[in-house]
Amino acid sequence: MTESERKIRAEFPLIEKSRCVYLDNGATTQKPGCVLEEINRYYETMNANPMRGLYELSVEATEAYENARVITANFINAKDVSEIIFTRNATESLNLVTYSYGAFALKPGDEVIVSVAEHHSNFLPWIEASRRTGAKVVYYDCAPDGSFDLDELKRLVNSHTKVLAVNAVSNVTGQKNDIPAMASIIHEAGGIIVVDGSQSVPHESTDVQAADVDFLAFSGHKMYAPMGIGVLYGKRELLDKMPPFLYGGEMIETVSKERVTYAAPPHKFEAGTVNAGGALGLKAAIEYITKVGFSQISAKESGLIKLAFDGMQEIPHVKIIGGAEASDHHGIISFTVDGVHPHDVSEIFAAENIALRAGHHCAEPLHRHLGVMSTTRMSVGVYNTCGEIEQFLDVLRSIRARMGYKDDRQYFLQ
Ligand SMILES: Cc1ncc(COP(=O)(O)O)c(C=O)c1O
Repeated sequence: MTESERKIRAEFPLIEKSRCVYLDNGATTQKPGCVLEEINRYYETMNANPMRGLYELSVEATEAYENARVITANFINAKDVSEIIFTRNATESLNLVTYSYGAFALKPGDEVIVSVAEHHSNFLPWIEASRRTGAKVVYYDCAPDGSFDLDELKRLVNSHTKVLAVNAVSNVTGQKNDIPAMASIIHEAGGIIVVDGSQSVPHESTDVQAADVDFLAFSGHKMYAPMGIGVLYGKRELLDKMPPFLYGGEMIETVSKERVTYAAPPHKFEAGTVNAGGALGLKAAIEYITKVGFSQISAKESGLIKLAFDGMQEIPHVKIIGGAEASDHHGIISFTVDGVHPHDVSEIFAAENIALRAGHHCAEPLHRHLGVMSTTRMSVGVYNTCGEIEQFLDVLRSIRARMGYKDDRQYFLQ
């Protein structure tokens, strides 16, 4: 382990304490001490209901919460801080868009293009929005390697197209999409692009203005922040036109029996008591990522993925889902082992204290499209090491023999 690896690992208490080789970062990441301390600092020094009191604690809590919004806006280069809405997670962010933008913009005959590689969070809400509004869902299929052809998108768009819903990075193949090019195609057709950034925002720098995305959703817990805080970025001109998603406290301007007016964005979309401790945890996570730097994060993670990918390619009966190059896999590799169910694969890994995920990873349509019912997924984070990837490869080499396949016995015993 290098000195810099040791330093990074020392910042994550659970990574330090646990014997687990944690390769399930696509599901959620571990939290560094600075994030845990910031959450504690919130509850120990300034906890009060933000935006509701005129006393010192509440004012401090409000200022800290709004400062977290400013840090988040700068992190993704939003034009205006009011374009950042705090939610519970990416799922809630995407539901907000489908309900609220759907109610404002979709009508019978309109078309919503949804990529087949979406997590259910950016798939099911559009199906439901289409049921509510009469708009039609049109599917954007990928090639067998998980890549999306831009010419196919050009063929799908027409004068009825209102939305393209697509991820920036797939949570199954790790395939990165060309979001700026997709945005330009959909804008030319008069529609908007809704990007699920859950698997991209933690790993590479995001610039919503340069990419010209209309909405971007992501979760704090996949980027070293706590669970329970997520983000929806939306262009202000769209947010202004949209009706609220949830109704209740703190999202109004004035309420009487006769008349209701709603607050301006972002507060119009943040009904009820907010998760101030979570927002501060997110702020600390962003500061942590910024301190390490995306150049170091991405060099580290792509190096780990290359090591894993090259090793996996040499193991008989292991099939990698998605692109043929290591560089096609951004932080994630999903795979199958011939003749062994992914749940058995991940159980064998679990017995060796290696955390992976098995199943369809909430992306069943993509698995069906690629002709596999389930896969095992490894996904890396900033604290993983080359040694851990070697451990992962050692166990992977032994799986078939452990399941009783005689042809792999010798390989296992080497
Ligand atoms: C690509 C993608 N989108 C959306 C989600 C949903 O995230 P959350 O459960 O935090 O809402 C996930 C989580 O696994 C994901 O990987």
